[in-house]
Amino acid sequence: MTQFQPASFPIARPRRLRQSPALRRLVRETRLSAEQLVLPLFVRPGRKIRQPVGAMPGVFQLSVDELIKEAVAAQTVGVNAVLLFGIPEKKDSLGTGAYAKNGIVQRAVRELKKEIPDLLVITDVCLCEFTSHGHCGMIHSTRYGKTVANDSTLKLLAATAVSHAEAGADLVAPSDMMDGRVAAIRSALDQKGFLEMPIMSYAAKFASAFYGPFRDAAESAPKFGDRRTYQMDAANGDEAIREVALDVHEGADMVMVKPGIACLDIVWRVKEAFQLPTAVYAVSGEYSMVKAAAANGWIDERAVTMESLLAMRRAGADILITYAAADAAKWLAEG
Ligand code: PBG
Repeated sequence: MTQFQPASFPIARPRRLRQSPALRRLVRETRLSAEQLVLPLFVRPGRKIRQPVGAMPGVFQLSVDELIKEAVAAQTVGVNAVLLFGIPEKKDSLGTGAYAKNGIVQRAVRELKKEIPDLLVITDVCLCEFTSHGHCGMIHSTRYGKTVANDSTLKLLAATAVSHAEAGADLVAPSDMMDGRVAAIRSALDQKGFLEMPIMSYAAKFASAFYGPFRDAAESAPKFGDRRTYQMDAANGDEAIREVALDVHEGADMVMVKPGIACLDIVWRVKEAFQLPTAVYAVSGEYSMVKAAAANGWIDERAVTMESLLAMRRAGADILITYAAADAAKWLAEG
């Protein structure tokens, strides 16, 4: 029988720091807080409307009065910011509802800022909810078929951002993925005197199947084709860095990566490369998958949601945009 021989050097024992909840809390590297959360909300015309979105349990299309209630409830549990999407009464080929002075988003912003001035109101700047064809800009024909015309769309996006600023938005977030949109929006805002209006660009936005349920929520599914001529190919990481670099060069104050859980490598690279406030959008499909599995009793909704948000923070995200923001804030308060 050989005798137990202590190793000449002690074996590594990382488990020492995992022995009790207090020890684990002490050495925790990444933390979540409600202040980092942004809640996306959908606003539509009407009164007393709270229309459930089929593919997104717990998400509603809200009339302005109901939107205020929802925003107050979110703020009460600690959510700091909302991101607004609008569903207009009428759609047309130029998406005029997006930049109408009295459009649905503009009205919602005015009411929100009047009722809850300290809640940060971010507006999504895009045309797809407002165009009859469901694309993010004006359509033209090319030798490859019909697609969104880049430069003529820039004017409409700039007009949209300015109209949101005039309504009192705190921050504008262009999500269209046209080339040059940040520069166009920046210069239009500056010309109108909104020099201090920050831009959070959806800088690395992939053409993702995870957006499926959103198009149901925002009634913005493209009527023909897809968004692959403007949103990025999911295979491309280096290109994402180039896209973000362009937006930063054009004046983006904050950048966003989207979708979330499928893009944590991009989040990491973007934060490393630019050290800007970096947001990640946990998109509709991510939310719906958790909801569906939880409804079947297959996963623990709270644990999976919080682990996913933590993973985004660990990857480098400063700001987390999630449909679960109010739930997450509540769970954080419960400890
Ligand atoms: C508008 C926009 C979309 C999302 C955010 N802004 C839809 C799209 O690009 O098709 C997706 C959000 C989500 O899936 O939760 N362009």
